[in-house]
Amino acid sequence: MPESAARQADFLVLGSGIAGLFFALRAAERGRVTIITKKRAAESATNYAQGGIAAVVSGDDSHESHVADTLGAGAGLCREDVVRFVVERGADAIDALLKVGVDFDRADDAPPGSSDFELGREGGHTKRRVLHHRDATGREIERALLSRVRAHPNIDLRENSLAVDLLTTDRAGAPGPNRVVGAYVFDALRGVVERHFARITFMATGGAGKVYLYTSNPDIASGDGMAMAYRAGATLANMEFMQFHPTCLYHPQAKSFLISEALRGEGGTLRTMSGHAFMADYHEMSDLAPRDIVARAIDTELKRSGDDSVVLDLTHLEPDFLRERFPTISARCLEFGIDLTTQPIPVVPAAHYCCGGVVTDTRGETDVLGLYAAGEVTCTGLHGANRLASNSLLEGVVFAQAASEAALERFDELPPPEDTVVEPWSEGDATESSEAVVITQNWDEIRRFMWNYVGIVRSDRRLARARRRIELLQGEITEYYWNSKLTPDLLELRNLALVAELVIHCAQQRKESRGLHYTLDHPDRDDARFGRDTLVRRSEWGPKTPPA
Ligand code: SIN
Repeated sequence: MPESAARQADFLVLGSGIAGLFFALRAAERGRVTIITKKRAAESATNYAQGGIAAVVSGDDSHESHVADTLGAGAGLCREDVVRFVVERGADAIDALLKVGVDFDRADDAPPGSSDFELGREGGHTKRRVLHHRDATGREIERALLSRVRAHPNIDLRENSLAVDLLTTDRAGAPGPNRVVGAYVFDALRGVVERHFARITFMATGGAGKVYLYTSNPDIASGDGMAMAYRAGATLANMEFMQFHPTCLYHPQAKSFLISEALRGEGGTLRTMSGHAFMADYHEMSDLAPRDIVARAIDTELKRSGDDSVVLDLTHLEPDFLRERFPTISARCLEFGIDLTTQPIPVVPAAHYCCGGVVTDTRGETDVLGLYAAGEVTCTGLHGANRLASNSLLEGVVFAQAASEAALERFDELPPPEDTVVEPWSEGDATESSEAVVITQNWDEIRRFMWNYVGIVRSDRRLARARRRIELLQGEITEYYWNSKLTPDLLELRNLALVAELVIHCAQQRKESRGLHYTLDHPDRDDARFGRDTLVRRSEWGPKTPPA
């Protein structure tokens, strides 16, 4: 691999979902921005978000109600100040998205340009407050933001580029506080690693659903940002809280296809294969209970019946309404031979959203100088132990906006880094791998034991088994990583393994059940001992995982 060049920008943005693109547009008003994205720019979790974005925009809703629903879902671990911070900025976030050209559905009789939005409802919400673009809200948001980004003269958008690690001054042994000054970036098409220096690095790399065998997430969701931030010395929190979406399409050929909760918001009913509408047995909100409760109820029913799936029944709803409001889901189901207007849809839970991640304050600042973050990669205090549906796109915009303001304030304090501060990438004695099977084997193994042992229902023994396995595989992966030439799969495997290890570690610390963490050995919530975040930091834990 040729020696890398050094590139300079004012802002380096990792990730091209809602938070990354939003931040980039704001930052580009002040300086040069480089966006690094793993595949095509639109290939982000945002692009697959079906439900929508929650915000208080109607007269019969209130901030208090949105705050209460968020706190209720979060099971005692949300930070109320952060929840208020986000909820109170909801309407402004919607305005900002409208200004970049996002088209949200409006009520049938609303005059053009009016703010009379058609609002959906999802689990855990006591009001209709989800703005949407039919059932493809994320795609619409991504379209609007990307078209602005592509047209901006100050933004360099680099596709097929994978950040390998953050550039840190402590890596180079420089005096003073550790500072992130950019990232090593692997250009997958040219096969080279370059140093991208920047005054400010903004991480919006999304989640880590691929750590689990079944997930609603696109293939890119391998936890890269969480792993890089951890290696760079940032604090992460609450990695045990992985949200399982209750309803993904169950079909042998349907990879990762979500059946939006908005369908239950319109009256869809979950039933066992024998027809029993079971959610009323579990919660007073029935099919619209918070997600952790619905996913666990499905898991219980599947274990009880031995069936492969439950079904979502929409056959009592108006067929034209369903086709019009949910065109993407209707069409996709039809591809698999399911007409959702006449047949119930087979569904199962799947890993969907990481409520934990890199800790930031309400300015999007991490505890490493120069590193900002927003979106699913972070843990801001909004979601607590369980995210309220459709709060994540909102969080992405609000925190990207806050981080851009904070970064612009800091701009002059953080001078452009000298390119001598971190060494060029060196691949040492790495050779072309003749054993790519190591990657597929480890990848499959991790995802399978995470699903079986660190899934919806956990126990001390299952977690200990997972721990033994990840430690064994980490040794193999680390050895392979340092001796093999880089490939995108290898980079992702290294990150995925570290994130799996962090999830197991955090889950083992929490000896209670709360929100998304349910364990048979400690089935009750214990506020006195565990009413706090689970923090994890490289300097304090992780001897099994050598720093890069
Ligand atoms: C959905 O449409 O059910 C997903 C929405 C979300 O995860 O917030």
